[in-house]
Amino acid sequence: MRSQIVPAVVVLLVAGLGLAGWQVRGVLAPAEAHTTILFNQGLDAVVTDAPVGWTNAWCGSCHKQEFEQWQGSRHNVAASAHNFEVECLEQGNRQQYCLNCHAPRIPFAGLPTSEPPGLDEAYREQPEWLASGVDCLSCHVRDGVVVATNVTQKGIAEHAMRHDPALGKAEFCAGCHQFAFKDIDLPDRFHGALQQASLEEFLEYRAQGGVETRCHDCHMPRGAHRMPGGYDDKMVRQAVGMELEARWIEPGRVAEVTVRLRAGRVGHRVPGGEELRFLTVRTEVTGVDGHPMGSRVDDDAQQVDAEADLPEWPIVETLRRHMGDREHGRDPQATPAPDTRLRPGETRRYSYRITFEPGTVAGVLTVRSRLWYHLMHDGKAQLFRHRLEDVQRVVRESEVHLAPPDRPTTGR
Ligand code: HEC
Ligand code: HEC
Ligand code: HEC
Ligand code: HEC
Ligand code: HEC
Repeated sequence: MRSQIVPAVVVLLVAGLGLAGWQVRGVLAPAEAHTTILFNQGLDAVVTDAPVGWTNAWCGSCHKQEFEQWQGSRHNVAASAHNFEVECLEQGNRQQYCLNCHAPRIPFAGLPTSEPPGLDEAYREQPEWLASGVDCLSCHVRDGVVVATNVTQKGIAEHAMRHDPALGKAEFCAGCHQFAFKDIDLPDRFHGALQQASLEEFLEYRAQGGVETRCHDCHMPRGAHRMPGGYDDKMVRQAVGMELEARWIEPGRVAEVTVRLRAGRVGHRVPGGEELRFLTVRTEVTGVDGHPMGSRVDDDAQQVDAEADLPEWPIVETLRRHMGDREHGRDPQATPAPDTRLRPGETRRYSYRITFEPGTVAGVLTVRSRLWYHLMHDGKAQLFRHRLEDVQRVVRESEVHLAPPDRPTTGR
């Protein structure tokens, strides 16, 4: 399946890297550092050789718009944000490779799994390389010159520049946005499944006829540097639409509720990015007094066995990538854990058959579905000391009504 999606990768790999470690390397190969501006999944820190005085603020003194947008971006806080600080300073995570991606100009170059010297001091003192995270210099400066996809005389008059088309490609982003696990107790290389697989998923989107040719088309409209994602409601709503329908099958007794999720303008699975993120769809029926009503029967069940557990109702569906021992590279024999996220172009349909006790349906019933976006699960929320309600939010909500049996059914 992988080789169907990325045949070019396999060729590259056999030519360049040999067969060792192909499972991980195979998909990472397009983002390996063949030019000096591409990132290599955090294996190495970045060396910019920027002349003295080339700070982000200096870049911003001329490129005001890019600077302001970047200041409002997650890239700007990639190493200084609370969640990263907590996780990176945890025992077992104090590793060079985290910073190679989250603050690529870190002035140390240890082994990827070694602890950078002075990590706690750095967090106390907040030097620029840490405080500015993924910044102008890390993305745009190599060998002491500005790297750009568009070199002009006006630009050269202000600073040394070099043309490099790689900056304009999906592989540039994937240099940080696609990588595998790297546990401290396993050898010093990536292993297991991809923890973030944005490029692989993007190739899947392309293979299915997706029109955008690079991440930039959606995340950097007109060159904008804010690069919004899961923290942005507009982006999440762009990625997924929801429709809800309900009808009586036996008026007053049995109803059918159908929820459809439709992938929108999104170039990878939803939610994309970190495996922390997930979606839930919560559907319920309430009576006039606002209390939940009904119970669920299997669509195909001929009759309900009173002894058996009834399926969950109200129901919570989860769209998420699970990562178990196999995915972490700890036990290659373990069964693969499911990935239930929405695929690019997919329409997901959930259908429920709900029964009501005879005579209990008095007034109009309300059927409601809410789509929740979760930045992280409870375990991580606890680690980061967030209240659960601060790391999850409703991004879509639909409501339809079921008229009581003695009146005609209303649709939506
Ligand atoms: C995460 C990497 C990244 C960071 C951080 C970043 N840029 Fe960019 N920048 C890019 C990419 C990618 C392009 C677009 C290349 C293309 O579309 O051809 C770009 C384009 C530009 C352009 C060209 C005009 C435009 O807006 O398309 C300028 C100027 C620029 N960046 C300046 C900056 C400055 C100043 C900063 C810091 C405030 C910065 N960039 C931070 C990746 C980055
Ligand atoms: C003194 C003003 C000035 C400073 C400081 C400056 N630039 Fe520029 N930069 C320019 C000008 C002017 C251009 C040419 C714009 C044009 O051709 O329209 C340019 C061009 C660029 C481009 C290519 C623009 C494009 O259209 O693709 C990039 C990328 C860029 N600069 C990044 C940076 C970065 C990163 C820094 C900091 C290390 C920086 N610049 C500092 C003035 C400046
Ligand atoms: C040097 C590594 C690096 C490169 C290159 C890079 N990113 Fe990122 N990006 C990160 C890190 C680290 C974060 C996480 C920041 C955080 O949330 O703490 C991130 C976060 C994001 C987010 C999430 C924003 C949100 O609101 O949650 C998006 C979207 C994104 N990057 C898009 C891009 C795109 C598009 C490109 C290529 C043009 C790119 N990145 C290049 C490291 C990188
Ligand atoms: C067709 C438009 C489109 C393309 C192409 C696209 N994205 Fe996205 N991306 C989105 C939308 C919409 C979201 C918000 C929904 C979600 O989180 O999945 C998103 C979310 C993300 C997130 C999640 C941020 C978070 O907070 O967890 C990351 C990271 C990301 N994209 C990176 C990329 C990278 C890297 C590429 C290229 C390999 C890419 N995207 C290509 C539309 C796109
Ligand atoms: C290959 C680059 C890379 C490496 C290595 C890496 N990360 Fe990340 N990390 C990212 C990107 C890209 C994102 C953004 C994904 C998204 O928004 O969905 C991210 C997101 C995160 C987030 C979520 C930020 C938030 O608040 O939403 C945390 C926390 C984090 N990383 C911690 C770590 C730690 C700790 C390590 C080392 C054990 C590490 N990362 C190693 C690239 C990397």
